[in-house]
Amino acid sequence: MYTQLEQRGMADPPVNVSTLREMKEKGEPIACLTAYDASFAALIDNAGIDLVLVGDSLGMVIQGHDTTVPVTVADIIYHTKIVSRGLRRAFLVADMPFMSYSDPAQALQNAVQMMQEGGAMMIKLEGGEGQIDIVGQLARHDIPVCAHIGLRPQSVHKIGGFRVQGREPEQARQMIDTAKRLQDAGADIVLLECVPNEVGAAVRNKLHVPVIGIGAGPHVDGQILVLYDILDITQGKTPKFVRSFMAGNDSPLAAVQDYVRSVKSHSYPQPEHCFS
Ligand code: KIV
Repeated sequence: MYTQLEQRGMADPPVNVSTLREMKEKGEPIACLTAYDASFAALIDNAGIDLVLVGDSLGMVIQGHDTTVPVTVADIIYHTKIVSRGLRRAFLVADMPFMSYSDPAQALQNAVQMMQEGGAMMIKLEGGEGQIDIVGQLARHDIPVCAHIGLRPQSVHKIGGFRVQGREPEQARQMIDTAKRLQDAGADIVLLECVPNEVGAAVRNKLHVPVIGIGAGPHVDGQILVLYDILDITQGKTPKFVRSFMAGNDSPLAAVQDYVRSVKSHSYPQPEHCFS
């Protein structure tokens, strides 16, 4: 009945929220990637990825939109379902799309659907001060939550483009304070996008939950990137924090293994991938 208890003795048991917290405590970097289908999910799981995100970035890299705004709950459920079939060990997180969590009741209803129909183990939402009650609502119903702060792509039209956040001291101070308030409301992970290294370090040091960075520098508990960016599938200009791992590797599997090794050994990100 309790499959997780049976798996506890395994050499390589499935990752869960406790595993991620222990990794933070031990200082073992958490290697994360996005995935959108079963084949890539199986490949990155075999390569040793700890956490897989079905991100609303699928709107851009799968559906061809310019932003993540058009993605729907049905899209996320479909992709989460097919990714879950490819995973054995990695922890599966699904993104709440734009306007699918505009109040606590709507957030709860959509999160439940993403877990029950999609198989998500955690829900990610882009959160600031305005989402603290929503995180609290999900946490009170024992729904694991990842709160995404810093650059929040769903707000791209409001903030006027994909820009580094937290460069002004007051904005940085507010971001650190919001991260703590999201943790206190029940967030199990904080994801921090596009901030200067010092802000990444400050948020990481302030929180007891893992802080996963994307363009947040080396002093966080783990790194996440978009799979298609590291495999050179993305056409055109990629953000500064992206490194192609196909260079020097002869297969997608070798590239993802290289990414996992580089995150675990702190050799990614390098200064050229960081903001000041
Ligand atoms: O949607 C996504 O893929 C994300 C990552 C870029 C962190 O939110």
